[in-house]
Amino acid sequence: MTSEKFQVYPLIDKKKNGEKLAREEIKWFIQGFTTNLIPDYQMSAMLMAMFLKGMDVAETAALTDAMLESGEQLKFPGKNVIDKHSTGGIGDKASFILAPIAAAAGVKVPMIAGRGLGHTGGTVDKIEAVKGFRTSLSLNEFSAQLLKENLVLMGQTPEIAPADRLIYALRDVTATIDSIPLITASIMSKKLAEGANGIVFDIKTGTGAFMRETRQARALGKSLIATSKRFKKKAVALITDMNQPLGNAVGHSNEIIESIETLKGNGPKDLTDLSIALAAHMIHIAGVEKSFAKAEARAWKVLRNGSALEEFRKLLRLQGGLETVLTDYSLLPQAEAKTIVTAPRSGYVKMFQNEKVGLLLIDLGGGRKMKTDVIDHAVGFYFHKKIGDQVKKGEPLLTIHHHPHQKKLAEEISKTFIKEVITLSGTKVRAAKLILEKLS
Ligand code: URA
Repeated sequence: MTSEKFQVYPLIDKKKNGEKLAREEIKWFIQGFTTNLIPDYQMSAMLMAMFLKGMDVAETAALTDAMLESGEQLKFPGKNVIDKHSTGGIGDKASFILAPIAAAAGVKVPMIAGRGLGHTGGTVDKIEAVKGFRTSLSLNEFSAQLLKENLVLMGQTPEIAPADRLIYALRDVTATIDSIPLITASIMSKKLAEGANGIVFDIKTGTGAFMRETRQARALGKSLIATSKRFKKKAVALITDMNQPLGNAVGHSNEIIESIETLKGNGPKDLTDLSIALAAHMIHIAGVEKSFAKAEARAWKVLRNGSALEEFRKLLRLQGGLETVLTDYSLLPQAEAKTIVTAPRSGYVKMFQNEKVGLLLIDLGGGRKMKTDVIDHAVGFYFHKKIGDQVKKGEPLLTIHHHPHQKKLAEEISKTFIKEVITLSGTKVRAAKLILEKLS
């Protein structure tokens, strides 16, 4: 694409050489891409240059603004419109639990969520395991449902931050994800466009996160909070552990089942505790409760008395999802075969190479290798042990949910799991700490 002002090639070249791009240049590039004047291959090259050479604070702000301005921006009155965003992990299904909790407590939750990214799963892909659930809503439907019902969940549309929708799909398949400026612009363009007045961030760190080191997670948290402040939004960030899957279930149907069980009060401790903590921050910054302690007590109350589960039921009903999945899990896509991986020796679970778990799920069909791949919601994993747990030789460590024709692949995954994913130690190991830091 050419124009009087700029040309594509010299701008890619400029960034490739490590020079700073001006606000106007970034804006022009993003506009060109979202209006189909700049093709995917040139955008991919620019993303790789941005990834490798980095972006300073001014460039990150310019990219965020350009992506935000690529679509419409919703505005809602009242300070109780609060969303949460996770930077992505393995088995991270907390949105399905914390959003109904917050809504049941009186927070309005306008969730615009993403699809799978790299080795991590996406909220929108997961909820689509529920037959009929519409993740594509018009902006009018989105706003009306939020204002009347407190809770709405959709994927990106051509109207809301379309630049992120398109760039996200490219980053997913071009190894350009784990970059603080690109993640900041991606998350903030969506969150600012959806009209939330406050945001709670869950910044993952560890072997399954884009930010492996706590130091990097802290820097990402600071970047997200600084951008929120620039737009006068309230923000809190929790840095949380992603050295093992969150909960026990990984894969789309499996994660929906575990989310429903958690809403019924039968969830794994880490998933329940994290969902409560994040929901409590939402309730607190919404001003529904004056102190964090009271917000936390309120979150537990609506989880235990079943009102959060009712909010989830309502969400399914409002968006066309099959409500009966709440009591009949066989209505979710099912993998007919199971392969159980057992412990080769006794010991304690020390570590998971968690990114590899996400990649193995993609191998099974539960993620995308190419933009056009269709997700298989039925396949997945169930982890029987967490870090710090004692295991005896022969005990189950992992159940692989797969289709009968994938038996050979499941056997290969079993071997890889023992060789490359799980580490067992002969001596006692401390359980992993879940919430590492809070930034606000
Ligand atoms: N979540 C997003 O929405 N975008 C990213 O880039 C990473 C996580």
